[in-house]
Amino acid sequence: MLITGCSQLLTLRGPVPRRGKALADLAIIEDGALLVRDGLIQAVGPRRQIERLRESRRAEKLDLGGRVVLPGFVDSHTHLIFPASRAAEYEQRIAGATYEEIARAGGGIHSTVKHLRRASPAALKKRALRFLDEFAAHGTTTLEAKSGYGLDWKSELAILKLLGELQREQPLEIVRTFLGAHVIPRKFKKRPDAWVDLIVGRMIPAVAKTRLAEFCDVFCDRGAFTVAQARKVLAAGLDFGLAPRIHAEQLTRTGAARLAIELDAASADHLEKISRADARALGRSNVTCTLLPGCCFHLGLAECAPARELIAAGAIVALATDFNPGTSPTVSMPMILSLACNHLRMSPAESIAAATINPAYSLRLHSHVGSLEVGKYADLAAFDVADYREIPYYFGVNLCALTMKRGAVIYSKKP
Ligand code: NIG
Ligand code: FE
Repeated sequence: MLITGCSQLLTLRGPVPRRGKALADLAIIEDGALLVRDGLIQAVGPRRQIERLRESRRAEKLDLGGRVVLPGFVDSHTHLIFPASRAAEYEQRIAGATYEEIARAGGGIHSTVKHLRRASPAALKKRALRFLDEFAAHGTTTLEAKSGYGLDWKSELAILKLLGELQREQPLEIVRTFLGAHVIPRKFKKRPDAWVDLIVGRMIPAVAKTRLAEFCDVFCDRGAFTVAQARKVLAAGLDFGLAPRIHAEQLTRTGAARLAIELDAASADHLEKISRADARALGRSNVTCTLLPGCCFHLGLAECAPARELIAAGAIVALATDFNPGTSPTVSMPMILSLACNHLRMSPAESIAAATINPAYSLRLHSHVGSLEVGKYADLAAFDVADYREIPYYFGVNLCALTMKRGAVIYSKKP
């Protein structure tokens, strides 16, 4: 297939991962084109050059009509499987209750867990499929999804298996993360370490052996797991080949970011409460700093992660939705780009690299997604804008016109 009509083709060719000034390098081709075969990019460059290739003449043609084209978004932090919204808590927070107060009163993650255990597998699947369609409609082609709303063996397993089924039955690529250490389940309230022992001794070995996840995550924070507990869980994950990710420094500064560095974690996520020294240490590390500005927005918090400091320190910065019912109920990466630009003071170009090539690196998928280069998947999103900066600029509206995964159109806006 010959794809033309890319007024700006954002290839993201260049160093992986992107750090510092390189984060703003989108490697743009004006009036670009792509030649795609069997779902892979066979050639990419200026239209005139690509059109002249012998194979291009025989190829099926797709004219994108002068749109801005970029690699499909890689959303590297989502909690895709949950049974219902928590809109009532949203209203309570607007009236003044805090996220932690609601959690202590029995709402929050525990309430989602309670509902998930009662939900039918078919209902959970139907819901997830509906949201996956929405992810695709907003330009996402790859996403990470965590368990963590089951919090007993049977339900955690069911979530990971459902994610596997979804991976096989719909076009978006799903990377799975085991988050048995989301919060201490009710039954273990008085003996939290027994839950940690169960995760370490039984669940992680079984999840790894049956290949139900690629990563292991812990919510390390006040009201969830301590740094010592997180270290135990993530070290066990590492022993069994599950690379660590960690919810770090969201509500309080616990030292979780330092733990991420110590374990050479794939990603440390949130990071709202890090110190200057933490930012410098992360900058020297190989840990991707996944920032989740949807949480600050939805929770109405003034304090955001220090993105500028992290970028200046040379950290690998990524952006994700953190799609979940408690703190960030959005599937929209374009909205996350708007929040990153306005609240984290990232430039539009930085926000795009942080939503494509860097999260691909954090998921260890950079050899085939995250940029538009020869040999990689033809995963792309075409936006109805004249200039890539308009993607974050027009906030709260979906300007994604077409999404392609491995050469197949998986979303196309109705005319
Ligand atoms: O990433 N912090 C922990 N997990 C989610 C929130 C989950 C929830 O409130 O349901 C987060 O913000
Ligand atoms: Fe999260």
